[in-house]
Amino acid sequence: MSKFKYNLAVIGLGYVGLPLAIEAANCKLKVAGYDTNESVVNNLNKSVSHVEDISDKVLQDALSKDFLITSNSNILGDSEFIVISVPTPLTDYQPDLSYVEEATKSIADNLKKGQIIVLESTTYPGTTLEIVKPILEQNSNLVAGEDFLLGYSPERIDPGNKEWTFKNTPKIVSGINEKSLKKISEFYNSIINEVVEVSGTREAEMVKLIENTYRQVNIAMVNELAILSNMLNIDIWEVVDAAKTKPFGFQSFRPGPGVGGHCIPIDPKYLSFKTRQIGQPVRFVELAQEINNSMPNYVVSRISELMNKKEILFKNSKILILGVAYKKDIGDTRESPAIHIIESLLNKSVEVSFYDPFVDELIVNNKSISKELVVENISDYDIVIIHTPHTAFNKIDFENIKSLIFDTTGSFSISNVERL
Ligand SMILES: NC(=O)c1ccc[n+]([C@@H]2O[C@H](COP(=O)([O-])OP(=O)(O)OC[C@H]3O[C@@H](n4cnc5c(N)ncnc54)[C@H](O)[C@@H]3O)[C@@H](O)[C@H]2O)c1
Repeated sequence: MSKFKYNLAVIGLGYVGLPLAIEAANCKLKVAGYDTNESVVNNLNKSVSHVEDISDKVLQDALSKDFLITSNSNILGDSEFIVISVPTPLTDYQPDLSYVEEATKSIADNLKKGQIIVLESTTYPGTTLEIVKPILEQNSNLVAGEDFLLGYSPERIDPGNKEWTFKNTPKIVSGINEKSLKKISEFYNSIINEVVEVSGTREAEMVKLIENTYRQVNIAMVNELAILSNMLNIDIWEVVDAAKTKPFGFQSFRPGPGVGGHCIPIDPKYLSFKTRQIGQPVRFVELAQEINNSMPNYVVSRISELMNKKEILFKNSKILILGVAYKKDIGDTRESPAIHIIESLLNKSVEVSFYDPFVDELIVNNKSISKELVVENISDYDIVIIHTPHTAFNKIDFENIKSLIFDTTGSFSISNVERL
């Protein structure tokens, strides 16, 4: 019988923390969710979910179980396991671990013998040992690996993915010593189908970075080939579709307007920050970043070319961005290439609006971008840029739209379209 009131406390109830807390509550664990954002806490307590993969109904069901959501950090002393899933953004292009440090301090202030702490936030190798462990030990006078256990487990959640969920995606786990690894492994085994142990926290931290760097580099490669194929008058979309029929040795990546979200544009910078400390660049990462970051401007140059051909003046033209989220069927606009495309268009005195069923408001350069409320008005624009391939857009009758259409996603079979 555990001496703790809760089996699990989750710090940070966002895209990563909320699904974990709910899955644990559904597995009959006693769960406490702690978030410093009062409005997140209030809404969640009213069963209003801000995470697309978690419906209000799923949240409501979880709340009817043993699941408390609070902004009071005192509960952290009452839980056997504590998972940290707070943001790890970039500030001034550098890794910003202030949220992780804050969350770790709030644990340290309440730390008790027998507790098990797991960091899930994406970060550079060494964070658990060099940042989290010292804060916990100094503020509590307890010893890591003996009085309390500590480890790292990267999150692999893919927002919007219905096939690979929190439950059936294998989870990497690690501990600062054998005792920590064993306990942490047992815990995740109780809520996830498959757990994969690695030997140390630095290896586990690096797993996440290799996964996202792999995506970033391959997307950059196909983006560069898209630009070159356009110059050579070759249809890159047909090429990619044909190449992917090879059943081995090739994984297909699709070109696009750039990379967005909380992971791919950011995580590789955590890796290069770490290698810079030993005087080494990650050359692949830096080149990939350069290519992916250039894509929004490339999109704008292609649109300008297209309008020129049709003798439409770019300045003061009306452009609609269809979908501004960074990926399909979700409303997350963090680091979305759409923002950079819009920025560039605004600088060229273009009138920009957006239509996205998942996004209520979009602020670019401190200005709220006008939102088109009904998709039927599409023909009122000089050009429509398809930025995000939301499933809902399949219903649009593009063939009968008078505006020019530029598709950055290659996802729509439309005869009157120009593709990236
Ligand atoms: N979103 C993804 O798809 C994804 C996937 C894998 C890994 N990750 C990583 O997981 C981590 C969390 O990302 P997210 O997308 O869930 O972030 P998020 O912004 O959706 O949620 C983070 C939550 O943490 C809260 N928070 C911030 N500081 C806090 C503190 N000191 N104490 C308590 N709560 C605090 C915020 O209020 C927010 O609600 C990041 O490191 C991210 O890189 C994200």
